Amino acid sequence: MEINSQFWAQRRVLITGHTGFKGAWLSLWLQSLGAELTGLSSGAPTQPSLYELAGIGANMREHAVDVRDSGALRDALLQARPEVVLHLAAQPMVRRSLRDPVLTYEVNVMGTVNVLEAVRAAGGEVRAVVVVTSDKCYENDGRADARFVEADRLGGSDPYSSSKACAELVASAYRSSFFAGERTTRLATARAGNVIGGGDWGEDRLIPDAVRALDSGEPLRVRNPHAVRPWQHVLNPLAGYLRLAEELWSTDDVARAWNFGPREQDVRPVSWIVERLAELSGGGLRWQLDEAAHPPEAGHLSLDSSAAEMGLRWAPAWDLQEALARVVEWHDAQRAGDDMRAVSLRQIAQLGRPRADRTQSR
Ligand SMILES: NC(=O)c1ccc[n+]([C@@H]2O[C@H](COP(=O)([O-])OP(=O)(O)OC[C@H]3O[C@@H](n4cnc5c(N)ncnc54)[C@H](O)[C@@H]3O)[C@@H](O)[C@H]2O)c1
Repeated sequence: MEINSQFWAQRRVLITGHTGFKGAWLSLWLQSLGAELTGLSSGAPTQPSLYELAGIGANMREHAVDVRDSGALRDALLQARPEVVLHLAAQPMVRRSLRDPVLTYEVNVMGTVNVLEAVRAAGGEVRAVVVVTSDKCYENDGRADARFVEADRLGGSDPYSSSKACAELVASAYRSSFFAGERTTRLATARAGNVIGGGDWGEDRLIPDAVRALDSGEPLRVRNPHAVRPWQHVLNPLAGYLRLAEELWSTDDVARAWNFGPREQDVRPVSWIVERLAELSGGGLRWQLDEAAHPPEAGHLSLDSSAAEMGLRWAPAWDLQEALARVVEWHDAQRAGDDMRAVSLRQIAQLGRPRADRTQSR
């Protein structure tokens, strides 16, 4: 699967959430492709951050805009005159959504409405919009054989998951009501999740928690070692978002929802990930069960991405083994004080290729 560099060169692209983990990787990729990039966000969500370490802000136009502020959002979008909009800004944490459901719905649902209203205000100048939701947008009863396809029921038993299901419904209504027909804006949604990669310091996430444990020498506290998740390197679904926007440019047929998940063999329990990470980091990672009471989480989550494989010619470029090796490689480089913009750009350029010195054990 190739990203069409000619398509992205000098393309006016607006990305929301460009300071976040996924947004910073995507911004860096678009910078390397020569896009004319504008970012809107409410600031870097973590310290440190990939955004700062890779000098993302210095290489694009950016606005500090809260997506709940519809006027400021519209003004910034109209000023940027984007041809493509990639909407990633969100409150993305399940546990924070339980502490602050109102903020989560405001940002994730009304924030999406505000982005789409700003796109409407641009009056057809925006040709392609990709709204990033989540693999958690499906109604999930935890069945171990469930492998969600795009037509499955939306749901979500916590405010975050439900807010992403709501964002899907918002996008669907805007598509039918305002973005239908030829020669207008085309809108698609992208459902992916459990992304891993270098440069994530988000709270309550397995890889960032493991990085913090490695840095501090403390054992990693694991909440739910048996939970099975569709893990994938962050660059895999980001390649899907880029492919989707490219296709939206030329055909209305892809204006719909798409899953971007790993192959079946990479749907693995948390304990497998932790053990592989411990191996890859030379035995420096110890872990223990976190016995504290935690909100219930679905035991099993898996996505069927065959529609994207057929319809977008997308495929997960790195398998899970490679993804974990890339995480370790990135954080080793960061600890060594390397230039993290160069390291991250190199990983983007190498997507799809295995590391030369890759550890083979499983
Ligand atoms: N990381 C994952 O595993 C994962 C899984 C599924 C879906 N997603 C989705 O991908 C997207 C990006 O996630 P991430 O992991 O990069 O999150 P992140 O927390 O690292 O980044 C969130 C971004 O949104 C911005 N933001 C937050 N609230 C805002 C507001 N009110 N106004 C403007 N900007 C705001 C932040 O400034 C930041 O740029 C989100 O939509 C998230 O729901 C992520």
